[in-house]
Amino acid sequence: MENDKLKRETIVARGVPSHVAIIMDGNGRWAKAKGLERWQGHKEGVEAVRRVMEASGEVGVKYLTLYAFSIENWNRPGDEVSMLMGLMVDAILSETANLMRQRVRVKAIGNLQDLPVEAREKLAGLIRLTEANDGLTVVLALSYGSRWEILQAAKRLAVDYGTADAATLDALGEGEFARYLTTAGIPDPDLLIRTSGECRLSNFLLWQIAYSELYFVGKFWPDFQKEDLYLAVQNFQQRERRFGMTGEQVKIK
Ligand code: IPE
Ligand code: IPE
Ligand code: MG
Repeated sequence: MENDKLKRETIVARGVPSHVAIIMDGNGRWAKAKGLERWQGHKEGVEAVRRVMEASGEVGVKYLTLYAFSIENWNRPGDEVSMLMGLMVDAILSETANLMRQRVRVKAIGNLQDLPVEAREKLAGLIRLTEANDGLTVVLALSYGSRWEILQAAKRLAVDYGTADAATLDALGEGEFARYLTTAGIPDPDLLIRTSGECRLSNFLLWQIAYSELYFVGKFWPDFQKEDLYLAVQNFQQRERRFGMTGEQVKIK
């Protein structure tokens, strides 16, 4: 099968990204194009999440971060927001056994306090339950916004370092700052994918993607298949990450 061949090639090729982050966009337009309601697009989007989680685990990705709901998404009509929150709770309940079987560890980033109580509690339960799993780590970005994240980090840092002397402040590096982000302990993404043809970041992981490879694909999220993930990974494998150095330098490393 074409799919299996792509998967084998992806695994064999060197340098599978250890962390893939995805801006899962286009659910509403997918539904509209089919004459359906927006919520049906979101529901179908959950199926794409299942496929991509499986594909990521199979090719050896270690971290998969999924932008599921942004801070700005709170500004959507109330019924869409409630539907999305309900969908998350349903997905947690229906997918728990599957996640345990795949040994997936679930984490969440974002302003989780703002989630409705049921969603927050179900999410906390899933995180606890899957904590010791040793497979793919799935990081759900919920009520997430990068500027919010950086600002809350700066505020907490100001409290902790408010009375620090100049030498201590001087020694404070990027690594120390990153510990105040909600992604503390999670490596930066190697590859960032956005679906639906939009070429923007929409307030996602602005600090963390400083050196990520960006990949934009026209498909709407509900149409995203396992092979689309393999293709994105293969595209990543053809790139040369230079981190500010010259091509010659990175080749001899
Ligand atoms: C992505 O799809 C899902 C969320 C943002 C929650 P959209 O709902 O943004 O779909 P479009 O962009 O309107 O098509
Ligand atoms: C980004 O998509 C957020 C998620 C995918 C959860 P949006 O659809 O909210 O982004 P904009 O508003 O088009 O930039
Ligand atoms: Mg959108």
